[in-house]
Amino acid sequence: MSNADDRPRADRIPIPGSLFASLPAEVSIYEVGPRDGLQNEATILSVERKVELIEGLVDAGIKRIEMTSFVNPRWIPALADHMEVAARVRRRPGVAYSALVPNMRGLDSASRAGMEEVAVFMAASQTHNRKNINKTTEEALATYREVIAEARARGMRVRGYVSCVYGCPYEGAVPVEQVIQVAGGLLEMGVYEISLGDTIGVGTPRQVEHVFRSLLEAGLTMEQLAVHFHDTRGTALANITVALQFGARTIDSAIGGLGGCPYAPGASGNVATEDVVYMLSGMGVGTGVDIDRLVAISARLSGYLARELPSKYLKAHLGHCARIGRSV
Ligand code: HMG
Ligand code: MG
Repeated sequence: MSNADDRPRADRIPIPGSLFASLPAEVSIYEVGPRDGLQNEATILSVERKVELIEGLVDAGIKRIEMTSFVNPRWIPALADHMEVAARVRRRPGVAYSALVPNMRGLDSASRAGMEEVAVFMAASQTHNRKNINKTTEEALATYREVIAEARARGMRVRGYVSCVYGCPYEGAVPVEQVIQVAGGLLEMGVYEISLGDTIGVGTPRQVEHVFRSLLEAGLTMEQLAVHFHDTRGTALANITVALQFGARTIDSAIGGLGGCPYAPGASGNVATEDVVYMLSGMGVGTGVDIDRLVAISARLSGYLARELPSKYLKAHLGHCARIGRSV
């Protein structure tokens, strides 16, 4: 049997160049914990605790944060206090505070609560749109055409979400053409950015490459795209790494790994903000967020919600503190 080193040179696996050369010095974290995180929790936090959470995250360095949803409280009871939360959070200059709106009624409420940014949301799949916002894809696009125009006329910035990009809990595989149709439609209506949601956490790195390549070939640009991964099957950080290599510069995440869409069976936590910040810092990518403050918030939140949170960094931190006898 021949030794690998005896093989002719051309047969040897080449040593790759730097896999990280294309990574940026800095990325933008878009925190969705207070909204995507809390919308599906069994324990409903008080307004005071929600305000404490949002202000604490901003103190930790978060510059973009989704505070709540102006949706029908019968559909999302955990965020029924949207008016009070939005009105009570102290705004810090330089921080973008946003909230979901599904229609004109939601936009009016968001305006009254002083929101300067809102986000519209829909899926790339028909069935998820029916289950989540009670509309077909075409009806949702028609509704958002009016909502986006009106929000912009009122001087608000509008973000767009496309969910179920990597798979739908009802329909299974989602053709990338449907993602292009919905994302392209919302961008043409005037959203400044599309967040591509892996709502049920089924995506894998190769699929991420396929989605981004297809969107860029269709004429979208990386500046218009953010990533929103759920860590249901443990692939979120790998998917983020591929997206960054492709040029993504905005990453959605939720403190503690909270979250899940109540109208997406099987959906579990968003990728945890502290896990993302830890990984990025190890790769030399800055976020401007203080991980010690984040993990302290996450630990407190776990107590408030009376459950263990999915964040891996939090688990490791709690284990370390217990071993050395230090408080969290
Ligand atoms: P509908 O029942 O079809 O609404 O719901 P409607 O227009 O027929 O009105 C029915 C009732 O709802 C009326 O009240 C309206 O006033 C009221 P009634 O006369 O019966 O007393 N209503 C509202 N109330 C408060 N705020 C509003 C509002 N609109 C109507 N804005 C609707 C349609 C879209 C409102 C409903 O389906 C809804 O609220 N859906 C939201 C569901 C939701 O928030 N899901 C979670 C979002 S997470 C997600 O989508 C994924 C994402 O996180 C990305 C990812 O993770 O991948 C973004
Ligand atoms: Mg989510």
